[in-house]
Amino acid sequence: MNIKKLEEAAYNFGTPIYVYDLSIIENQYRKLQNAFKNLNNYKIHFASKSLSNISILKFIKNLGLGLDAVSIEEVKIGIKCGFNKDEILYTPNGVDFSEIQEAKSLGVKINLDSLESVKEFSKHYPNQSISIRINPGIYAGGNDNISVGHSNSKFGIPEEFLEDLIRMDEVRKIKVTGLHIHTGSDIIKNNQFDEGIKKIFSIATKFKRIESIDLGGGIKIPYFSGDTETNLEDYASIIEKEYKKFKNKTGKELKLIFEPGKFLVSDSGYFITRLIILKNPIIIVLLKLTQDLITLLDLLFINHIMKSLIYQTLVIRKKSIQ
Ligand SMILES: Cc1ncc(COP(=O)(O)O)c(C=O)c1O
Repeated sequence: MNIKKLEEAAYNFGTPIYVYDLSIIENQYRKLQNAFKNLNNYKIHFASKSLSNISILKFIKNLGLGLDAVSIEEVKIGIKCGFNKDEILYTPNGVDFSEIQEAKSLGVKINLDSLESVKEFSKHYPNQSISIRINPGIYAGGNDNISVGHSNSKFGIPEEFLEDLIRMDEVRKIKVTGLHIHTGSDIIKNNQFDEGIKKIFSIATKFKRIESIDLGGGIKIPYFSGDTETNLEDYASIIEKEYKKFKNKTGKELKLIFEPGKFLVSDSGYFITRLIILKNPIIIVLLKLTQDLITLLDLLFINHIMKSLIYQTLVIRKKSIQ
């Protein structure tokens, strides 16, 4: 973004301030659309956990994306921002069942991620369609903290329960119409995507009333010059191949869902702050950052960067203004 615009924002609104470049978000979305041009039935849902600013969410909604929410609050923010209820996917992990009931009463789509919640759901809502999140037992992602599809992860229903689910589906105790996986964030090795995609399509053949597969997020952008990134064309071609195989075997055309977060917004944000006291000669005034923020000025803004610290995903790109 033009440095003048950033300065203007700082002078007009004061600091510290976040500034987002909407054209970057739109370009990222167009890149995905281009990569997925051979897929004819898909929807991209923005993973709101990566940026839940209301104005950005409204912009993303107007681009035509749906929303991916992991908490009931994110669901409510999505509704407030104007997303249609059937364009909001709620994928909770370890929440009280009352939150799932609340989401159900709000009319949004739900991905259930434990056998317990599937059983509870089928008691309260017999014969209603469900989508389930599978834990594929695959290690994928930029580091241990953002790799969530391996067998020790708390996310998704482990494969050992699959037979139970298939049986429940066959005897019409539950009606599985959707499957979901999200193996991790910042995935660069396409063979890691490959494994998950093959697995979920193969599992899908076992559910006779299946209508959709949600492939989660995980696409990585380069965070600094020379950094790695997901090859989108390769990613799309793995999906196309598995999609065709599934169609040939079952005669069915599934709807595909994607939930990118960081891919869409990581490069769009700036955090501008003012230099107050110079204690260290290499202190930098303006920092262009990824998903979250850091300031080297002091720890005043530590609350803003907690998530990145916890997930060890902090990447700092610096730009100083003279
Ligand atoms: C269920 C789910 N979907 C999508 C995402 C978005 O992942 P990313 O930002 O790596 O695309 C996450 C992130 O943790 C997630 O948990």
